[in-house]
Amino acid sequence: MEITVQTGELLREPSDLGVLAVCEDAPLPEEVAGLLEPADFRGRALQTLLLYPRDAVAPRRLLLVGLGKRDKVTAETIRRASAAAVQQARSLQVPAISVGVAGDLPLEPEVTAQAFAEGLELGAYRYWPYRTGLTTEETFAVEAATVFVKGPEQQVRAGIAAGEAIARGVALARDLVNSPGYRMTPATLADQAVELGKRLGLRVTVLDKPQLTEQGFGGILAVGKGSDNDPRFIVMEYSAAVDARPTICLVGKGLTFDSGGLSLKPPDAMETMKSDMAGAAAVFGAMQAVAELKLPLHVVGIVSAAENMPSSNAYRPGDIVTTLSGKTIEVLNTDAEGRIILADGLFYAQRYQPDAIVELSTLTGAIIIALGAHATGMMGTSQELVDKISRAGEMSGERVWQLPLWDEYHEMIKSQIGDIKNIGGRPAGSITAGAFLAAFVGDYPFVHLDIAGTAWADRPAKPYESQGGTGVGVRLLAQFLRNYIQ
Ligand code: BES
Ligand code: ZN
Ligand code: ZN
Repeated sequence: MEITVQTGELLREPSDLGVLAVCEDAPLPEEVAGLLEPADFRGRALQTLLLYPRDAVAPRRLLLVGLGKRDKVTAETIRRASAAAVQQARSLQVPAISVGVAGDLPLEPEVTAQAFAEGLELGAYRYWPYRTGLTTEETFAVEAATVFVKGPEQQVRAGIAAGEAIARGVALARDLVNSPGYRMTPATLADQAVELGKRLGLRVTVLDKPQLTEQGFGGILAVGKGSDNDPRFIVMEYSAAVDARPTICLVGKGLTFDSGGLSLKPPDAMETMKSDMAGAAAVFGAMQAVAELKLPLHVVGIVSAAENMPSSNAYRPGDIVTTLSGKTIEVLNTDAEGRIILADGLFYAQRYQPDAIVELSTLTGAIIIALGAHATGMMGTSQELVDKISRAGEMSGERVWQLPLWDEYHEMIKSQIGDIKNIGGRPAGSITAGAFLAAFVGDYPFVHLDIAGTAWADRPAKPYESQGGTGVGVRLLAQFLRNYIQ
């Protein structure tokens, strides 16, 4: 979609569909108020009303979208409203729309503009490379949007550009997650990283199975052993041309398919397990956004990629795995595989002496029980870093919620026969997983984000989501990294 900025008045500029976002407690512009009965449209959040204003205003059609109470309006409100608008435009088959707000909002113009761009692009996202016989309504694309946001033009343009870059990162993450497991193997995921690197000037390193063996990546090798699709370790490095500090490592779980291995999952639980690389996908999307936004940082994206399959070569319950760190893991359940591959990825991150390590993984079913789809679970070893991620969560609309990492939880995963065991029983399942990871980061500030509940939408809950991968983490990481430089 081509998004352009205009500073004039939405109601004065001709267009096939003008979308006017309206607060519940703000008056409608006079020329619009005359077009409807007040009771028909109160401006409640996401309420819409389509009007044919004849010549009362310049747009041929006018769609009112409610924002709710003015003092409750956030970037998330705008994101949802603009996604709802683009969906309405698609069903009306209008290729070019204009969008704007009636009155002023309690938001910076740049923030409003960014949220508009994100909502428009993400609301338009579709994934159907495997669908045939699509209807014209389904294939119809809204090609252009003109955004009317009041404020300094440079700020508005910067907001649009940021929103577009971030939305492209989210779309990349969604595409990677939605791609079926037989296509998205560790090797193809690595190919995607190489391609991303070429396109954006990232330094990309891929380690294949012989290299992993030689260098001692015992965790990744153990988990990947049962599959003919060999594991990979992927590093994508972005360095700004300017003084390239601080250094942030982003680490992602890249299980391209998680059958559970010998501790096989039941069929229902396996249906969506192509999405077990959503942490990796978020790292890809964030790396792309960071490079496009040219942030003055040194960001290292690290992905452990493997496929977890049962076979006579598969790792077993009872096996001992020697990780890259030298620490040994007692495997009691081969379905708790994410933490094993991440142990190598997190230990590797230490070689960059990072200012922060932020790791994302679809790690535990238990986090879905705790938080549902409405927040990502968070644990961390540095409260300062945890607070930064919380703030980025509020700002980006990708909320996180902290759980504790007290010593007692570390006790629960001590092993007799090895250093650490890969499950700690049902109680506090998400936290013992987080505690396990924290054992591999040394003293570096570390945050673990469990996105098992937020990475996949069976039914989209927000207008800017679609069924399948949500691309969660990209907006959060992009916001965190942008805040980092301020
Ligand atoms: N990939 C799963 C976690 C998951 C579950 C992600 C549901 C998305 C939706 C992970 O590898 C796993 O299987 N975890 C086990 C751990 C258990 C064996 C300790 C789980 O949560 O059941
Ligand atoms: Zn698993
Ligand atoms: Zn998994």
